[in-house]
Amino acid sequence: MREKIIAGNWKMNKDAAGTAELIEGLKAKCPSIPGNVKAVLCPPFTSLALAKSLLAGTQFELGAQNMYSENEGAFTGEISPLMLKSAGCTYVILGHSERRQYFAETDSFINSKVKKAFAEGLIPILCVGETLAEREKNVTDQVVTTQVKGGLAGIPASDAERIIIAYEPVWAIGTGKVATPAQAQEVHKRIRTITAELYGQAVAEKIIIQYGGSVKPDNAKELLHQPDIDGALVGGACLKADSFSAIIQAAH
Ligand code: PGA
Repeated sequence: MREKIIAGNWKMNKDAAGTAELIEGLKAKCPSIPGNVKAVLCPPFTSLALAKSLLAGTQFELGAQNMYSENEGAFTGEISPLMLKSAGCTYVILGHSERRQYFAETDSFINSKVKKAFAEGLIPILCVGETLAEREKNVTDQVVTTQVKGGLAGIPASDAERIIIAYEPVWAIGTGKVATPAQAQEVHKRIRTITAELYGQAVAEKIIIQYGGSVKPDNAKELLHQPDIDGALVGGACLKADSFSAIIQAAH
């Protein structure tokens, strides 16, 4: 059975003091992570090293929210996979809808980062999802298919089976409008089928597909019990120790 992976995307929130407060709260609320569940924290770059030291001896893992597709060089303002690894990251979120929308990230740019993440031993959390206008035009399937295939272009099956895909309908992010479990399950099943077409059923069955978009303690359980929902990428509700630990418990 696939494990459940709950990741907290802190976005552009928490300075050093806020990071310490949140992590101390999580350690108190969640002294152990339930079996078959993984919990990942994705703070801003400036908090990674501090988070790593505060999380020593816990089962929480660390991820970043973005990276560049080169190891080093003249790329002012960018962060490389080597830097993320040395800061203690195992995971990296790539292609979040806010990066696509506000920073014009394209499928091919995101794909170059997915390739680089695998090359350097990081696990990418590849985000896909349609906007409200796209859902209303009934093109969710095409949008998600293009994003999944674009993100995975040229990725061999041996890497693909370790990717995490986060389905995040853009209309549900930060809006309080969560997809119904049935709506989410339908797209997750479709994503599983797309990966089966690309890599075969055995690989597709291993891929973790997270749901993201207004996941809260009161809706997490039902979402996480859908057959193709293998975890959550949590924004707003990961900024409070109470609510993030309740979502981790709901995954069990
Ligand atoms: P939200 O964000 O939980 O605040 O909707 C999810 C995300 O953007 O990853």
